[in-house]
Amino acid sequence: MWNPHAGPLRIGIIGTGGIAHAHADALSTQENVELAVAVDLDPGRCREFAAKWGMQRTAPDLRTAAANGELDLVVICTPPASHMGLALEALAMDLHVVIEKPPALSLEQMSTLIKAEAASRGSVSCVFQHRFGSGAQRVLALHGAGRLGRPLVGTCNTLWFRNQAYFDVPWRGLWDVEGGGPTMGHGIHQFDLLVHLFGPWQEVTAFASKLARKTDTEDVSAGVVRFQSGAIATIMNSVISPRETSQLRLDFEHATLELEHLYGYDNDHWTLTPAPGSEELAELWAAAETNIPSGHSAQYSVILDQLKGGEVPPVSLAGAYPTMELAAAIYASSITEKTIRKGEINKGHAFFTRMDGHREPWKQQPAELSGEVPEKESANV
Ligand SMILES: NC(=O)c1ccc[n+]([C@@H]2O[C@H](COP(=O)([O-])OP(=O)(O)OC[C@H]3O[C@@H](n4cnc5c(N)ncnc54)[C@H](O)[C@@H]3O)[C@@H](O)[C@H]2O)c1
Repeated sequence: MWNPHAGPLRIGIIGTGGIAHAHADALSTQENVELAVAVDLDPGRCREFAAKWGMQRTAPDLRTAAANGELDLVVICTPPASHMGLALEALAMDLHVVIEKPPALSLEQMSTLIKAEAASRGSVSCVFQHRFGSGAQRVLALHGAGRLGRPLVGTCNTLWFRNQAYFDVPWRGLWDVEGGGPTMGHGIHQFDLLVHLFGPWQEVTAFASKLARKTDTEDVSAGVVRFQSGAIATIMNSVISPRETSQLRLDFEHATLELEHLYGYDNDHWTLTPAPGSEELAELWAAAETNIPSGHSAQYSVILDQLKGGEVPPVSLAGAYPTMELAAAIYASSITEKTIRKGEINKGHAFFTRMDGHREPWKQQPAELSGEVPEKESANV
């Protein structure tokens, strides 16, 4: 366990591919941290990464990396299927863990991690970096102070474009490795923010389909969500939309808040339109004192502050669970053609152990895999 008075927080980064660089970059600007060891199955990539970020040690696995006891926190940047196993290993060593999205492949895995965290002196923070930009923080503060009134109507669009080559990487588009398509892997950032700002969700009715890519998962999903407050929002998750955008629109009683960005935002990506009679909200919104971009840096600032103070750092597993549960419910509703309520997907439910309910509705057939047949639209299932 880290004692901030005894020295810097010693960090190991596991998985040194694409997103690991965003972590190293964000951590290298924080005080009282040491990028201690890089871990990867690929020794060449690992060495290159360590050299770039000034890390003294490399290791092929976590056990070796932690063998000398000189680690306080590990950052898991590997493909999703390995997240739970690595986090369990780290928690068994009482290490703190930062885990990339999605934190696990299923609600069952989330529950296993929550139990392991309770038995460990370590903690787990799930990466949902869009919660930490000043725009989102200000919406929460205004809403918390009662200035915005009730949440009423929302739209949440993740309309991204990933070509076929993206899915040809061996671990992509497989239920066993990624846990799903754009619902689990892409739109999850944006609907995590929706739930974070709009409050607990209650039920969802959804459709998903595979329309344009050769993959085993959906390439688009859409849901209509009712929140406990009564608010209603739509969610679109797509990786087949040529004009890419990430949009969130939140209509509260007294103002509409809108966010449009792609992979990250700052204050300039937000607008507030007051309802008639609430014009003072526009002035309040324009008077922002800080502009913190969303991103790994913003989340790490809070994680490190909390760890220094001996507090549980955000986003906890319990804090990420409603987002993972919404992902599971979008899949369950799409595949079973039923409305799914929060709390319904529990132990014994097919969608508790796998996001596709073990049905693999869009699994490619051998002819598709060999490229012998043209891409076809699959039925909504
Ligand atoms: N938060 C974000 O904005 C964001 C963006 C992109 C990716 N991600 C997430 O980050 C994770 C990694 O994605 P990526 O695009 O960086 O992947 P990547 O394929 O570029 O890198 C993964 C690395 O992990 C290594 N690896 C695999 N299994 C390992 C293991 N058991 N032990 C050690 N090393 C192992 C691989 O050799 C590879 O170098 C995924 O969960 C992805 O969803 C998050």
